[in-house]
Amino acid sequence: MIQLKLLIWFMAPVGMMAAISFILYRSETDIRPGSEMARVLMDKARRWNERFDLTGFLHHEDGFFFQWLEGQPDNLAAIMERIERDPRHRNLTYLARGTQAERQFSRWRMGYSTRSEASVLRWLADHPVVIRERKEYAAGMLAFLRERESLLN
Ligand SMILES: Cc1cc2nc3c(=O)[nH]c(=O)nc-3n(C[C@H](O)[C@H](O)[C@H](O)COP(=O)(O)O)c2cc1C
Repeated sequence: MIQLKLLIWFMAPVGMMAAISFILYRSETDIRPGSEMARVLMDKARRWNERFDLTGFLHHEDGFFFQWLEGQPDNLAAIMERIERDPRHRNLTYLARGTQAERQFSRWRMGYSTRSEASVLRWLADHPVVIRERKEYAAGMLAFLRERESLLN
């Protein structure tokens, strides 16, 4: 009995920790990086993310968006439903999704970078990222986004 109580005591904090869900996707777009349309999109996204307590990072390069988005599962699912339907991009492909104990981008309602700051293609070529599977591609992409965010003020 004492052992059981101890086990419950030890496990409680793990169970009580709210899991943060995350997604990483790639999509295709005609919006030009750094354009007024991109700015409008990001402004609105950040306002909604504030309201839904979501954080993340979006890299925009050569007709592609790469976005990491994280937060409480219900909030993330609600926003992803809208993002999936958004006509400003197409062919949305999930590269990774799951849960994590902590946020990767807690400083950013939605950080944004373009090729003029850094090229993800060059970054992947310059780093020893072995890409045999989608999860390795996703891990490389997350590392790139984390590096971009660490350089943003
Ligand atoms: C590439 C891309 C990324 C987006 N990221 C977000 C985001 O992080 N958060 C968000 O609320 N909306 C984001 N949006 C916008 C949503 O699709 C949607 O327009 C927004 O949630 C407002 O909903 P509404 O257009 O129905 O008013 C994104 C759209 C695109 C095309």
